[in-house]
Amino acid sequence: MESIISSLLLLILGLVAVKAVSKRFSGKSADNGIVSSVFGSKIDPFYAVEPLEDFDFKTTPPIDYKPYRTQGHVTMGMSSHPAHPANVNELGIQKQSRSNWIRIDSGYLKRLEERRGLVEDKPELTIGTGKIVDPAIEELYEEIMIKYLPQRFPTMFKICGNIVENLATGSNYPFTTAGLTPAVMLRYLSDNVEEDFYFMCPDPDGQFRLRGYIACFPGGFLSPARVGESVREIHQPVPGYDKKLGASVDRYFSRMKPGQFIGRMNWSLQVDGADLFRTDGNNFYPEKEEVVDNEKYSPPLTECYLRAEHQTLTALPKSRAIIFTVRSYMTRLDELRANGEGNALADAIESMPEGLGQYKMRQYWGGKVLPWLRGGPGDATVE
Ligand code: HEM
Repeated sequence: MESIISSLLLLILGLVAVKAVSKRFSGKSADNGIVSSVFGSKIDPFYAVEPLEDFDFKTTPPIDYKPYRTQGHVTMGMSSHPAHPANVNELGIQKQSRSNWIRIDSGYLKRLEERRGLVEDKPELTIGTGKIVDPAIEELYEEIMIKYLPQRFPTMFKICGNIVENLATGSNYPFTTAGLTPAVMLRYLSDNVEEDFYFMCPDPDGQFRLRGYIACFPGGFLSPARVGESVREIHQPVPGYDKKLGASVDRYFSRMKPGQFIGRMNWSLQVDGADLFRTDGNNFYPEKEEVVDNEKYSPPLTECYLRAEHQTLTALPKSRAIIFTVRSYMTRLDELRANGEGNALADAIESMPEGLGQYKMRQYWGGKVLPWLRGGPGDATVE
């Protein structure tokens, strides 16, 4: 009898262990993969996300990025900038923590609403799916919606059975990908976080190409037109990129390992309002012989913004897709100027190499905006 009981006990223990381990590898466990296995409490560094226990998005201000202070301009030649931080390499890349993948702040609800309208009105421009990318979309849904959000923001995302409640929006979404189409998964992502995601999938020859996206806030380019392009092809319009960055970025991509998490900043000026969805008008392509709006020469200063993008790259473990995540921040230039930042920003704009300056349309708005940033007269309201 005693031996039957102990065999039964062993069997039950075994079943519990197998269930815990299989949950861990199925990636659908409520503990976000950080399962304390029956053999100890080993944390897989890929899933190590620090919870923000008392987080309240309403009282969290947006991060006050000032990339122009450390980056002469958007990476090109920035390693020679006097304020260039030592832990940033020549691509402007810095190791970062997975905890900072998604940012939430007081503007959350307003920008989610902007996203919802965009996805509703322009699904063909904001959502990109397809046979090659669909497995990576499912994997990202699991990573962000199932593992990351409830763990990072426990005061906002609560798991209740088979759904996750978003306590800030009052909506909910499935805690499993079963029955969801890739487009629906992307919609749920867009309904809950304001980061845009671009999926770079590896070809059989190892080249990474854009295969899908949820892109509500593009900074001046048309996502569908770029599907199938390699990282180098995507950057073809960027003056100096091919010569200065192309080879290093390709190398970086081919060596990225799942679990690595890196970030960089891009910044530019947007001189005609704060709306974040821009498929053109922010960059200038001389070969296209574009006609440029007169407004671009003399923009109302109250409509001028610094557009800073926090970008991260991480490789997914199953599909091996590299996820390029972009979070955009807009700051009114008259506020920056009133806070004593005008000269630093004007210095950075003036020191851009000629080609990049033109690409950023400095030749149009520079005549009005630069002297004003340095303290000259203008029509802005904040003093
Ligand atoms: C380490 C990786 C990367 C580096 C160093 C890099 C660097 C740059 C730089 C310097 C620019 C021009 C600056 C500007 O527009 O303000 C740029 C533009 C851009 N980047 Fe990247 N980038 C990287 C990864 C990516 C990836 C993975 C994508 C995938 C979607 C991407 C998409 C773009 C696009 C669409 C533009 C604008 C191009 C245009 O004007 O048509 N970048 N990038």
